[in-house]
Amino acid sequence: MTEVENRAATNIHWHESSVTRADRSAILGHKGVTLWFTGLSGSGKSTLAVALEQTLTARGILSYRLDGDNIRHGINANLGFSPADRQENIRRVGEISRLFADAGAIVLSSFISPYVSDRDLVRKLHTDSDLPFLEVFVDCPLTEAETRDPKGLYKKARAGEIRGFTGIDAPYEAPITAELHLRTDQLTIQQEVDMLITALQQRGIID
Ligand code: ADX
Repeated sequence: MTEVENRAATNIHWHESSVTRADRSAILGHKGVTLWFTGLSGSGKSTLAVALEQTLTARGILSYRLDGDNIRHGINANLGFSPADRQENIRRVGEISRLFADAGAIVLSSFISPYVSDRDLVRKLHTDSDLPFLEVFVDCPLTEAETRDPKGLYKKARAGEIRGFTGIDAPYEAPITAELHLRTDQLTIQQEVDMLITALQQRGIID
């Protein structure tokens, strides 16, 4: 277990079970993993995760998507976009991803996750638990993301209607240690899906 800083609870104990991760993998026929999609809003994270989810499902592989906009409707509805709130957003979804990966799912987590330190924490949560973690840099130039502007948010940010918008007046720290770097303005979604499937096969996570 990764020790959490500032843990509030005391007198808590960890319970083990005789049922193991390997038992769960044997039921499912594949291992669990977290694919962590990071990139600007509009870079194609969610679109890619949905396409990969469809491909995996068609192959009989259990995947589960966690997506920034969706998660912020529920468990993280109390968080905004300050650096501290983004950090807590990523910490929580990192823990949730780890749980689903431990359960045996191919977890597809799409969050801007603009800070290297937050992404590294999520990586550590997984590696400390012996779970595979693949950081996927969903990369496209800001000008391209802004042209796509699927939710009209860049327009609002430029107009000053949204403050602290990633890429406009809040930072995005590009990964240097990502396992995969996908230029979504240069590849088709099918090519990206194929690259991700190959990466999972090469690591022995799926057949
Ligand atoms: S993160 O930075 O904390 O990782 P997350 O991925 O959960 O962000 O949510 C990003 C989504 O929230 C964007 O795709 C966009 O739809 C919406 N959003 C609203 N306000 C902002 C903002 N200030 N910066 C970035 N995204 C925002």
